[in-house]
Amino acid sequence: MPIHYDEFTQIFHLQAGQSSYAMQVSDEGYLCHLYYGKHISRDDLSYLNETGRGASFSPNPADGSPTLDTRLQEFPGAGVGDFRQSACGVRATNGAYAVELKYISHNILAGQKPALPGLPAYYLNSAADGDTLEITMEDALLGLHVKLYYCAFAGENIITRWAVAENHGAATLSLENLQSACVEFPRMNFDMVSLHGAWNRERHVERHPLFHGSTVIASNRGSSSHQLNPFAVLCDKHTTEHTGQAYGVQLVYSGNFKIEAQVNQMHCTRLCVGINPDNFAWQLQPGESFTTPEAVLSYSDEGIGGLSRTLHRLTRNNLVRGEWKQKLRPIKINSWEAAYFDFNADKLVAFAREAAKTDVDLLVMDDGWFGARSDDKTSLGDWFVNEEKLGCTLKELAERVNAEGLDFGIWFEPEMISPESELYRKHPDWALHIPDRGRSLGRRQCVINMALPEVQDYLFDCISAVLKQANITYLKWDFNRNLTEVFCHSLPANQQGEVGHRFYLGLYDLCERLTTAFPHILFESCSGGGGRFDLGMLYYMPQTWTSDNTDPVDRLKIQWGTSMAYPLATMGAHVAAPYGHGRANKIPYRASVATTGAFGYELDPTKLTVEQIDEMRAANAAFREVQQLVTTGDFYRLISPFEGRTCAWQFVSPDKSEALVQCFVVLSEHNEWDLRVYPQGLDADAQYELDCGAVLHGNTIMHAGLRLQDFGGRDFAHRNIYLKKLV
Ligand code: DGJ
Repeated sequence: MPIHYDEFTQIFHLQAGQSSYAMQVSDEGYLCHLYYGKHISRDDLSYLNETGRGASFSPNPADGSPTLDTRLQEFPGAGVGDFRQSACGVRATNGAYAVELKYISHNILAGQKPALPGLPAYYLNSAADGDTLEITMEDALLGLHVKLYYCAFAGENIITRWAVAENHGAATLSLENLQSACVEFPRMNFDMVSLHGAWNRERHVERHPLFHGSTVIASNRGSSSHQLNPFAVLCDKHTTEHTGQAYGVQLVYSGNFKIEAQVNQMHCTRLCVGINPDNFAWQLQPGESFTTPEAVLSYSDEGIGGLSRTLHRLTRNNLVRGEWKQKLRPIKINSWEAAYFDFNADKLVAFAREAAKTDVDLLVMDDGWFGARSDDKTSLGDWFVNEEKLGCTLKELAERVNAEGLDFGIWFEPEMISPESELYRKHPDWALHIPDRGRSLGRRQCVINMALPEVQDYLFDCISAVLKQANITYLKWDFNRNLTEVFCHSLPANQQGEVGHRFYLGLYDLCERLTTAFPHILFESCSGGGGRFDLGMLYYMPQTWTSDNTDPVDRLKIQWGTSMAYPLATMGAHVAAPYGHGRANKIPYRASVATTGAFGYELDPTKLTVEQIDEMRAANAAFREVQQLVTTGDFYRLISPFEGRTCAWQFVSPDKSEALVQCFVVLSEHNEWDLRVYPQGLDADAQYELDCGAVLHGNTIMHAGLRLQDFGGRDFAHRNIYLKKLV
């Protein structure tokens, strides 16, 4: 049993894979943190529960018990003597802002994991996957219960956590902060690794030391954002990609979030993760409850790479759902960079015909097929096929594409409304706006208020109607601006702080309804590229368009950074036109970079030369040979594109029987040595045959490395090395 409670010491000991987590109910009833890290035995850890000596500037609670200001706590309240960030903040009807949570009971749910109502969450495939601990805390004065959930996964170093606030009192409580998790560390000698970015430059890796005070990774943009991803790592100073301890923190959520690592005067670190409390307040009526999104805590003593592989496995096995979870994804060709808004059915069918020659599986009709849309100024919300533009019905178009041997997919941007649209003329109130205040535009569009049930129903009905018109097997779900003027006309003044979260409850509900109604369709989420690459969207849609930047050199960094937190199989990765986008790399280099993910094309195949069509065909054949390995293998980052002019990474099959090493030169240097690369994760004692015919032991390959002859010295060189274990 991975969750154990000792009645005598009142210590909870959780074991998740090879990691341990321990906490203790103190004599006064506070839930104090004891330990998180590498697996330890179930010893009496009471000695770790330090109360501190206290000082007049760290006040004692009214009963004289030790100060909360310096204690390590599982779920700190607010306003009663702990001056650090809190995990829970409530304003009572008299305006007082104070919460003091004490333990009242617990429950161990063996082999179970309760669902989070209306929210995406990890799931157990069977009872053997994990157990959940439910601890109930109480602020008796407020009548507030907070249930803390800890799901310990048996086979992975992962504990997921969430909290549920329940109002057991007679008065309404204004819940102004409820974090998903708080973890305390009795030290501060950590670096934080986080993923920052912008449109076209998503998830670049940044590493910086913690300091006294707070390091905050957050979004208040109404989405998980291009700018900062809901993911961070705390690692030891000497931790590398392959060695050392690392703690990961992540949120299964697509809206405003905050990850804060705060170091206090005792040089201890408090790490909180949850919905961003900025402009959040939830009116909790008597008898009601509020559930936070789920947080993911992960641990590795095999460096940041080990942490990523753990996260990849859990997300592939216990988050992604539906028919496409296990299926190899189609190779697709998307119309966006090929035609932008300038297409009709004949043009799309011509794309399909040419692409079919290269063994592509799916043609996607991107933005521009609906309403009166011929540029980005109009028609979002008018989800009716523009048959005049296409020159035929949707059914006929799909049939023509199918006749060329390709499946057919379509683009939507459901959460938006163009001021220039039929829908806006009918329902101007459906756009997010504040009365009497101007409506900010982003890409000339407003955001539709997903918190309104009538909006959810409208979208369900018209998207379903389109999907039923034709043989559609793929849907790209776009989201091209962030939320402003976040206000809902149907809610009273004191509930406006709920709108940001209600937006996501509405979106998630719509996603659930549509993915249930159309289980055969492969959904891919997108937000102007990778502006909403998060675990929340991945629960509903098994892949995400990684970036609008399809330049292969830029993609090395974007995909490297994204792989810190997300499995490769979830990353949309396309080969863009060698005649246009980004640097002048040829198709083989572009295809090699895109091999890392859900593979496809962003180009007009009718503009390619015969030689380029041959390259495309060869790239598709090569991708299919390694697709299973890339989709389910363990990923090792070998040479960082952030640190030099080369990049290398590797996939190893779970049974270590095969591996693929991919190496890329960005810019070469004169008179340099051959590149050496040190693959990882092989069976040390086994022999592997390389595709050049050489046979080497796993230990030789990993420790002495491979020497890539005739590889450097050329800009944009690339090489794929396939290794097969000899039996
Ligand atoms: C942004 C997406 O990232 C692109 O791939 C494309 O779908 C455009 N939107 C369409 O407007």
